[in-house]
Amino acid sequence: MVRIIDGKSVADGIKDDLRGRVRQLKESGVVPNLSVILVGGDPASQVYVRNKEKGCESIGMLSNIVCLPESASVDQIIAEINRINSDMSVHGLLVQLPLPKGLNERAILDVISPEKDVDGLHISNMGRLLKGEAALFMPCTPQGIMELIMSTGISISGKHAVVVGRSNIVGKPISLMLLAANATVTICHSKTEAIDNVIRSGDIVVVAVGRPKLIKGNSIKDGAVVIDVGINRQGGKLVGDVDFDSAKDKASYITPVPGGVGPMTIAMLLKNTIISAERSLKNRSA
Ligand code: GUN
Repeated sequence: MVRIIDGKSVADGIKDDLRGRVRQLKESGVVPNLSVILVGGDPASQVYVRNKEKGCESIGMLSNIVCLPESASVDQIIAEINRINSDMSVHGLLVQLPLPKGLNERAILDVISPEKDVDGLHISNMGRLLKGEAALFMPCTPQGIMELIMSTGISISGKHAVVVGRSNIVGKPISLMLLAANATVTICHSKTEAIDNVIRSGDIVVVAVGRPKLIKGNSIKDGAVVIDVGINRQGGKLVGDVDFDSAKDKASYITPVPGGVGPMTIAMLLKNTIISAERSLKNRSA
C-alpha cells in the first residue's frame, strides 16, 4: 500500500520550529531578512518569488524583493548584489532563476557573498558540497528532498538512488547529498540509453526534468521511494514529472504535485536565512 509523502505537513513542522528561532533572534535584536533579486517578468518566477515573500512573512521574517527589468545588464545586477552584500541588515540573498536569455548566470551567482548565499549556488558552496566538506549553505530543493526521504524512515545507506536530471539546482546537488548519505547513485539524463531500465533499478528515484508525466509506473521498481520535483502546467492543472496515478501502484512512498517537494524548498530557504542570521549574531558577540 503506497504512502503519500505530505510535503506540506513536513514543511509546516519545520516552520513551527523556525518561528521559535525567529522569536529568539528578535529578542537579541536581529530580524532575519531575505533579499530576492528578480530580473524580468517570467510569470512562474513571479509566483515563486511571491511565495518566498509569503513564507518569510508567515514566520515573522523580513523580506525584500528587488525587481530589475528584462533589459538589466550584468553590471547593473552585480551592482545590486554588491549593495545587498554590504547591507548588514540582510542575511540571505538569492537571484531568482532562470535569468533572461543572454545573461551570464555564473558571473552573477558568484558575486553573491558566500555567507549570504542561502541558495547554495555560489561556486565555493557547490565546490564544498562536491568535496564532501561542510558547505556554508546547500541548495534548498535538494535539502528538502533529503528531509522528505528521511521522513519516511527508510535507510538511504547502501540503496540504489537514481536521479533523473542533471541541473545545477537539483540533479547534481541531490546526487552529491545522496552519495554523502552512502547511497549508490546513478544520474540519468536526456541522452541516457535504456533509461527505463536504469530507473527500474532504483530503490530511490528522484525526478527533476520539467517534463509532464514523463515517468510512468512501469518504470518504477516495486516498493521504490519516488520523489517528483517537477511542477508543470497541463490543461490548467499542476502535474509532476512522474505519472502519479500509475506510479503510486508501484511505489512504497511517493510525493504528490502540488504539495510534495514545493513547500519544502521554501521551508529550507527560510531555514538557511535563519542560520545565516544566527551566525551573524554569533559573530557580533564574538
Ligand atoms: N528557480 C526555481 N527554483 C529556484 C531556486 O530554488 N532558487 C532560485 N534562485 N531560482 C529558482
